[in-house]
Amino acid sequence: MCGIIGYVGNKNAMPILVNSLKKLDYRGYDSAGISTLEDELYTFKDEGEIRVLEKSIPDMPGTLGIGHTRWATHGGVCKENAHPQLSGSGKIAVVHNGIIANFGTLRENLKEDGYTFKSETDTEVVAHLVEKYYKGDLEEATRRALKDIEGSYALAVMCKDEKNRIVAARKGSPLILGIGENENFATSDISAIIEHTNKVFFLDDGEIASITNDGMCITDLDGITIEKEVSIIDWTYKDVEKAGYAHYMLKEIHEQPRVVHQAVLGRISEVDASVKFEELDGFKPFFSSLEEISIVACGTSYYAGMYGKYVIESMAETQVKVELATEYSQYIPIIFNNIEKKLMIAITQSGETADTLVAIKRAKNVGTKILVISNSPGSTASRLADWTILCKSGPEIGVAATKTFTSQLTVLYLIALYLGQLKKTIGAHHASELIKKLKSIPQAIQNVLDQSDEIKRCASGIKGISSMFFIGRKNNYPIALEGALKLKEISYIHAEGFSAGELKHGPFALLTEKTPVVALCNRCNSYEKMLSSIVEIKARNAPVIAVADADDNEIKKYVDKVLKVPPASVDLSPMLNTIVCQLFAYHVADYNGCPIDKPRNLAKSVTVE
Ligand code: G6P
Repeated sequence: MCGIIGYVGNKNAMPILVNSLKKLDYRGYDSAGISTLEDELYTFKDEGEIRVLEKSIPDMPGTLGIGHTRWATHGGVCKENAHPQLSGSGKIAVVHNGIIANFGTLRENLKEDGYTFKSETDTEVVAHLVEKYYKGDLEEATRRALKDIEGSYALAVMCKDEKNRIVAARKGSPLILGIGENENFATSDISAIIEHTNKVFFLDDGEIASITNDGMCITDLDGITIEKEVSIIDWTYKDVEKAGYAHYMLKEIHEQPRVVHQAVLGRISEVDASVKFEELDGFKPFFSSLEEISIVACGTSYYAGMYGKYVIESMAETQVKVELATEYSQYIPIIFNNIEKKLMIAITQSGETADTLVAIKRAKNVGTKILVISNSPGSTASRLADWTILCKSGPEIGVAATKTFTSQLTVLYLIALYLGQLKKTIGAHHASELIKKLKSIPQAIQNVLDQSDEIKRCASGIKGISSMFFIGRKNNYPIALEGALKLKEISYIHAEGFSAGELKHGPFALLTEKTPVVALCNRCNSYEKMLSSIVEIKARNAPVIAVADADDNEIKKYVDKVLKVPPASVDLSPMLNTIVCQLFAYHVADYNGCPIDKPRNLAKSVTVE
């Protein structure tokens, strides 16, 4: 869950590395460090975020270097455990994202060989191993060291005696090579290098790259050269700037009208109002004969999956199971018979969540076809999948997912329609109505964003409370869960989401005048039942904030505060309610002075199980 960067070029490496690390710090931000190389190997590390390191870092010479931002796994947060980790003689420097599973054994063996350890990290064994095998060729020494290593890694390695190259390797953790003009990069995430280049190679597991300023050579663990295709990424450096917003999260919330538009763009045929996915071309017989879909995901993506179940089941009349990837990996799922009629949809914005990858691999092993919904081109999940549908949201930097969630909802709505059309559970006229409604959503989201001040005022009233609850029903039940998750993630206020009907089966015991309840009660969606729940909640003295249709004049009689959204269909109101929940969480967190883009203890992409 750390972020790594490597640079080889003709410019001063240090500022480039620092700048890239700032873009990567969503992957971990408890300590950071950099090594550069000129006549000597220079290393500087510090506890805290990259901004702390930026202030204290001295000038470091050299036109090549490596950097790291850490989310601690092995060993506490301190300078010694920060990366780069150095070998005993200080000749080798290593940055690492992943976990060396057999590091205990390797450490003991290396100690017997006379190596001493200065840190508690698993990474230090890599530095010592590379030094042990180094005989004048860094690539060979790294290759040899990797043969001893079990576990997952994205590594960048440099050696004091090799003044013009870094070596990078990957197994199980993301690693992307950026191709610049007289400069090249290795990084965990495209956002770290997008201001320098949009031409990349995606390294695959078991591959090693030797990177100099004028080229790179990719080989496998046996030294066999691998030819790779260059991928062009359609992001720009502007996508990773805050663009005047106080936080990335706020910027990303405001990008959502465009993001939803982008997710739809090119996926609707204007000729016959049908959904088309170029990515699935040629597989219509498979998709039209599907009998069962299993959706797996974690966190926010899991809630998108729950929404996906509702829309796919209602539009395509196909049974959908939604499972937490964290649980899926804990048991042997029902052995699929009739496997050719089953599909797994894995939803992961990063495409790198370890638990989701494990679930994908397990399903793949029994022959299940995999469709990945992701926002990351070239991610590990995509590389495992049979098909990938990209969300096309652009990079999301805030740790709390916002725009990638609405784009996942959009893609799922489109998939439901696509399957419904293939299976003929939706007629042409109905499909065209559903598409028309979807196309109106970017403007409806903009209308919600235009009421930011109202939502902010409402958030300012959230003071001195111990807990909050979010309730919804059907398609808005996952949005209640997501609303609660957003609030707890960034404001540290305890929050829970419930299906409105479930409150009376336990959570009622917690209701007091200090436990506000946000009720998602659009008229399209179990409105009468929501009203009953609201009345019951009010009878227990808990304040209620309703998220309701703008033309609903009744609701204010029942609740303490109304936040309005444009009326929308049952399948689309979740997208609008989501925006209200995001803005609400954002402003509550902002009033409480929380570090919104980087909440404590969290990382955007959890690459460990
Ligand atoms: C982490 C993030 C969450 C995210 C989850 C799944 O826990 O903090 O915001 O929802 O991972 O991430 P994925 O990249 O698989 O969607």
